[in-house]
Amino acid sequence: MCGIVGYIGNKEAIDVVLNGLRALEYRGYDSSGVAYIESNGSGRVVKQAGRVEHLLPGLDQEKSKIHIAIGHTRWATHGLPNTLNAHPHTNSDGSIMVVHNGIIENYLEIKRELAKNGYKLITQTDTEVIPHLIDYYLKRLGSFEEAITAALNDLKGAYAVAVLATAEPEKIYAAKLSSPLVIGVGRHNEYILASDPNAIMEHTKKVVFLEDYDLAVISKDKLSIKDLRKNTLKSAKAELLDYDRDKSSKGDFPNFMLKEIFEAPQAIKSATLGRVQADKGIVKLGGLETVTTQLKLIDRIVIVACGTSYYAGLVGEYLIEELAGIPVEVQLASEFKYRSEPFSRSSVLLAISQSGETADTIAALKKVKDYGCLRLGIVNAAGSTITRLTDAGVYCHAGPEQAVASTKAFISQVTVLTLLALYLSDGTKGYRNLLKELDLLPDKVQAVLDQAEKIKTIALKYKDSKDFMYIGRGYVYPCALEGALKLKETSYIHAEGYAAGEMKHGPLALIDEDFPTLAIATDSPLLEKTYSNIEEIRARSGRVVALATEGNKKIGKLVNDVIYLPKTLEITQPILSVVAMQLFAYYIAESKELNIDKPRNLAKSVTVE
Ligand code: AGP
Repeated sequence: MCGIVGYIGNKEAIDVVLNGLRALEYRGYDSSGVAYIESNGSGRVVKQAGRVEHLLPGLDQEKSKIHIAIGHTRWATHGLPNTLNAHPHTNSDGSIMVVHNGIIENYLEIKRELAKNGYKLITQTDTEVIPHLIDYYLKRLGSFEEAITAALNDLKGAYAVAVLATAEPEKIYAAKLSSPLVIGVGRHNEYILASDPNAIMEHTKKVVFLEDYDLAVISKDKLSIKDLRKNTLKSAKAELLDYDRDKSSKGDFPNFMLKEIFEAPQAIKSATLGRVQADKGIVKLGGLETVTTQLKLIDRIVIVACGTSYYAGLVGEYLIEELAGIPVEVQLASEFKYRSEPFSRSSVLLAISQSGETADTIAALKKVKDYGCLRLGIVNAAGSTITRLTDAGVYCHAGPEQAVASTKAFISQVTVLTLLALYLSDGTKGYRNLLKELDLLPDKVQAVLDQAEKIKTIALKYKDSKDFMYIGRGYVYPCALEGALKLKETSYIHAEGYAAGEMKHGPLALIDEDFPTLAIATDSPLLEKTYSNIEEIRARSGRVVALATEGNKKIGKLVNDVIYLPKTLEITQPILSVVAMQLFAYYIAESKELNIDKPRNLAKSVTVE
């Protein structure tokens, strides 16, 4: 996902922008750039493939005199990740400089129209059409604001843009449609613009979240916002974000991924804090209080999510159907948007997202906007786009998750889904034992984390594998899928997750001594069947690492290696097993000296479809 930072105020704008871009590096990127207006009034752009640090040599001179600048980290969607395609992009004389996050779906059409009017575009990007389009209108309309308004109205797709122009050297223009953009309101005539609050928090916690079709005009002492659809000014709604910068630093950990794995116990506590009264068997979800009446009338829940959040949704399906007796269907958000399916008003769309900015999940929510159904969210990032598109929801409160590979967020999502299932149940079955187990879970997760060195020893025995199978049944079947995703996205080893019962329907053909399996064989009514699947694999010389429950006397004879997990309910197994698999994947990736927090080709939040 691309990152945008802009600054106007009394500080050295280039340093503020560079530090802001560094705060966004966790999102993943392949090039970066900065634009500013030099003291002689001309525009200047410094951009480079690679890391933000590569910009420094080009930015040394006159930094102290620059008090307005914009910057960008690019995760390539259109065009190679090289210097030419890096942002900012400009019009032909460099007087208009633009950074952009999102996708301009009609950029080829605009490119053709510009070419007919003599414009020569030189990059492979969609973004480059924006400065030229503004230039086109500036030559035909009276003011810069009218020109940028006309240009934005021509764009189709998703954008968050920041624009500098030599015609307006004391202003930053910023606009948003689908892709996030937030403005930090500084104390002394300064504003910091960014794609997410991470880049703003060291300056201010007072922020204005731009909404779709907003055009903000930012000068040192004034912020004005126009609704492009109505062409009218609107008030800037400032809010205070609760943000703890310490939480987002690595602390004593070598990287964010390991830190966030070890934050799992706290993630469970934060997800249940103030929401559970175990002794009374009560669950309170304040974020749903405004929709309790509608919730009583629902007859189906459709969960939409992507990646790890989708796998958490699959666990949620088992939870809600068993505890609340409501039919649940889990769909990949990227598929849901394009399906034609019946969707009644008594259905609920439940979006699960760590970042709250995933374009596919946002698109799914927008698809049902006029269906009259309830839209709920389970989100970690406060104030994110998905929280603004839903009627109600439950925050995960897991704290910032910076590593691209999602870990504590999954734990938090499954915990919240457990609470949601209980909240939706009629409470007659007395779930005190489950609520008491939720209280015990942080310590049980800690017991798994305390085995980190043992898990590492086992993981390193398999670090040279080229392929890996993950299998599980029932509640831990989705965990097999998630475990496989963790391995593939951190260590680049091909890994497949399967329902254990599916092995003989095809995947068993893959198994030989070079294709190991991780089998989740924790205590459950289905354990005997999982044993059979393990034996099928062992009979084909397949090596097996099992996750099993402490006290299991049989598993050791069936498999090559065992990671024992504390006893817990079948329904809370997913949380313990996934923590073990996160560590398993982590240590293999670490042994290969890969970029743990920023795996190749991936971004922390995928804000493009
Ligand atoms: C998981 O480790 C990945 N980072 C990815 O699959 C992620 O879960 C997915 O992109 C969804 O992101 P979200 O939860 O922020 O919507």
